[in-house]
Amino acid sequence: MARLSPEVFALRDDILALRRDLHRHPELAWEERRTAEQITSFLRGSRVELRTGLGGTGVLAEVKGDPSRTLLLRVDMDALPIQEDSRSPHASEVPGVMHACGHDGHVAMGAAAARLTAGRGAPITVRVLFQPAEEGEGGAQAMVAAGAMDGVAAVVGVHLWNELPVGTLGVKVGPLMAAVDRLRIVVRGRGGHGGKPHRSADPVVAAAHVITALQTIVSREVPPTLAAVVTLGSVHGGQAFNVIPDEVTLLGTIRTFDGALRRSMPERVARIASGIAEALGCRAEVEVRPGNPPVVNDAAVAERARRAAARVVGEENVVEPEPTMGGEDMAVYFERAAGCFVFVGSANPARGLDQPHHSPRFDFDEDALLVGTQFLLEVVQEAFG
Ligand code: NI
Repeated sequence: MARLSPEVFALRDDILALRRDLHRHPELAWEERRTAEQITSFLRGSRVELRTGLGGTGVLAEVKGDPSRTLLLRVDMDALPIQEDSRSPHASEVPGVMHACGHDGHVAMGAAAARLTAGRGAPITVRVLFQPAEEGEGGAQAMVAAGAMDGVAAVVGVHLWNELPVGTLGVKVGPLMAAVDRLRIVVRGRGGHGGKPHRSADPVVAAAHVITALQTIVSREVPPTLAAVVTLGSVHGGQAFNVIPDEVTLLGTIRTFDGALRRSMPERVARIASGIAEALGCRAEVEVRPGNPPVVNDAAVAERARRAAARVVGEENVVEPEPTMGGEDMAVYFERAAGCFVFVGSANPARGLDQPHHSPRFDFDEDALLVGTQFLLEVVQEAFG
């Protein structure tokens, strides 16, 4: 088991109670008002300077030290629109909303780290940022706009990770999570009677060809040694079984690590979608909306994080996680300061706690919260050096 300090052990019940309370009362992106109140009350009496209402629901807890050296620890706080499928005593009490990614645990670790850092006092300034709206809703951008990154020299974030066993920490230099851009294609034709296709231009058939052809971007255009994903997750068109509709709308996601490849993707999608649609008598409108950049960990900050991790779980339990094509708005902070995003192993298959993130049966081993809290404290120690 991890090397935990007595102060972390002493806070164990409070950490678990906060996590379980948040799990019972999950809040969606930009609605994290109760969550923010729970953070505030957890930190009441601590020597932290609290800013609430950042961008709406964000919370910033600052332990004042040397302001010329400011370390930001970032956790996220939003839940997902998922109906929990669990018999846990602390299952969600909000129908259709669930902490299915572990952000309840992130808040608990961040709040515990803030309270303990305030208790110790810090030579450097340590900010713990509780960020709302991580799940694709622009939370990080709003925190940066609200000044959370002003004067910050380095940023470290943690994410519970059910692809790693509890008692491990995942630290990797370089690319960790992909850039995520949003794709919207509207295939426009000319609707008509289902029995008279020759008098219409069928956008359903054209959209079907577009969907298939888009898969040739990854299979035929992207160098096989570079990672890319083009996924269409939504297809909508038509109302009736016997009517050819006027248009079909496709929604999807483009994921890459490489910057040049990322920049080339809108042209590739537009060329294929427009060319195919036109060949079939339709038109395609393509819109690619840039999302979060890739999460690329800074070598120097990652090395400090790795040393901090080794002190908590031992060298043998610091692992290098596989890069994932999932995205994270942690990347937005890395545009302002060097940083590292660290995975806190949270799976315990023997106890059935190994469901994937975003699953209605997601849960994790709460021992991971103690490991993560201790890790954040060690990161603060590393930053002193
Ligand atoms: Ni998450």
